[in-house]
Amino acid sequence: MNCTQAIRARRSIRRFKPDAAVPRADIEAMLEAAMMAPSARNSRPWEFFVVENPELKAGLRAAHPFASMLDTASLAIVVCARPEDQKGAVSGYWPLDCGAAVENLLLQAVDLGYGACWCGCWPSPRISKIQDILGVQSVPVALVAVGVPDEDPPARGFYQPERVVWL
Ligand SMILES: Cc1cc2nc3c(=O)[nH]c(=O)nc-3n(C[C@H](O)[C@H](O)[C@H](O)COP(=O)(O)O)c2cc1C
Repeated sequence: MNCTQAIRARRSIRRFKPDAAVPRADIEAMLEAAMMAPSARNSRPWEFFVVENPELKAGLRAAHPFASMLDTASLAIVVCARPEDQKGAVSGYWPLDCGAAVENLLLQAVDLGYGACWCGCWPSPRISKIQDILGVQSVPVALVAVGVPDEDPPARGFYQPERVVWL
């Protein structure tokens, strides 16, 4: 699968094969893809929490009102921002940088044959609950459910020519 195909095949997956193993090498490939994302002045204001522990995963599911797919997902990767890593002219870009990292992670998951779903955390009141579960100060931007898909939503086109201005 090349990049063009991965972008067009990606869908949010919300039903996974329960208890499917995801090898650490594959998880690390997803994390590496995330960390390959561009960031303002290469500040890389992120850190990643890989949650495989069933109790912690259940805690995340309870803390997030729209993450019920965690019931069957093999793991969650919580992408957290470190706003303090950005100073001066680049301060404040961290939500964008973390969003780029999340998208890279999702596309790498597709390429490896996994499914994933981006569950938004920042900006929402659920941030502090997730910080408590993980025991962190950094800002949870997204919780990504990852696993082996048990559904196959069709690829769909989103090209809207009316949203494009050609100058
Ligand atoms: C910032 C953001 C937050 C999202 N939060 C959730 C969420 O909490 N739960 C969920 O099931 N999907 C969530 N999604 C997934 C979107 O619903 C999904 O991307 C959108 O409906 C388009 O569908 P597709 O990903 O299959 O193309 C989120 C996506 C983004 C980008």
